[in-house]
Amino acid sequence: MTLTFQPFHIPGAQTVHGNTFPYGLQASLADGASDVPAVNDAVIAITALAESGRLSELLQKHGAVLIRGVGHPSAETFARLVNSAEKGRGSNPFIQIGLAGKRTILADNVWTANEGPSDRRFYQHNEYSRYTRFPSNIHFYCEKKALEGGETPVAHSALVYDKLQEAVPELVQAVHEKGLAMKMAFRAPGHEGKGNEFNWAGVHSFGQEFQPGDDRDTQKAKVEVQVRKLTPAFRWLEDDALELTQYIPGIRRSPASGLPVWFNGLVGRYGMTRDQGALDPPYIGRDGMTYLPCDYGDGTVIPKEYLERLERVVDELELDVSLEEGDLLLVDNFQVSHGRKPWTGERRILVSMWEGGKPIEAF
Ligand SMILES: [Fe+2]
Repeated sequence: MTLTFQPFHIPGAQTVHGNTFPYGLQASLADGASDVPAVNDAVIAITALAESGRLSELLQKHGAVLIRGVGHPSAETFARLVNSAEKGRGSNPFIQIGLAGKRTILADNVWTANEGPSDRRFYQHNEYSRYTRFPSNIHFYCEKKALEGGETPVAHSALVYDKLQEAVPELVQAVHEKGLAMKMAFRAPGHEGKGNEFNWAGVHSFGQEFQPGDDRDTQKAKVEVQVRKLTPAFRWLEDDALELTQYIPGIRRSPASGLPVWFNGLVGRYGMTRDQGALDPPYIGRDGMTYLPCDYGDGTVIPKEYLERLERVVDELELDVSLEEGDLLLVDNFQVSHGRKPWTGERRILVSMWEGGKPIEAF
């Protein structure tokens, strides 16, 4: 049966530079049948949307597209849909380096979103924007909806930039001039904290090339090879902890719109560090993990007041998307940031990351 997509309004949708954000598409069967479409029909329709260039157009224009109504929620359905969408428009899977969290692969290019504790809020960030290597797209899929909470909030990075210009112009100016120094600490295996624990040995962190039986020195040498793909600025600390600094512009120009976008993980890092009570030395959170503060690119301190104002601006722009089971939220990572709201009950959101299209340059 032929499946078609009809636009629908997403509660709380915003207008950003004249375009609806996010854009909703409801899947339904063309003959008016009320049955849930077969996954095969959805795959054919999404492939056509991708191959015609229409999907890329929608993502460029709107930044995020929510596809609802395909049904049959599972990692396998998501894999079939997302691989059709991205391969259909010539993208390649994004290979992760430097993951600070835990993700499990469940199907072809499909992962659990982040297995950190359910009571933790994740603040807005463009995926891996704290590094110089990041995916062009990150797509979300709801396999299991939480009893309460668990929304996937998104914010438009061009709008964030505009509002920051008004609300914290000193910060925008300083980031333009100096860029950002994003600092991360990765503990050695066995030295993690509790809750959202990760270490440098993770297979998506820096342990990609580890072999069983590698001794510590061999492992560290292999870690360094991966770290250098991100940054030459790193050092080993006590207990074989790894500290790395990534110098990023912090503001980039969206290749889709030509507009400046706030593209960094600053508010994400600040929010989590504050919630963990780790804003002051020695920067150890309640979970026992290390949360290093980020600086301007010249090593000078970003005033806390600016970070507080930054968070208020981003919080106000954030739009909670409540994903239903089977919903597919396609996101242009260059234009749109995302987060995670705490929840009760069970929730399973899956992600898929891709690279393709025009690269994003510094503004
Ligand atoms: Fe993320």
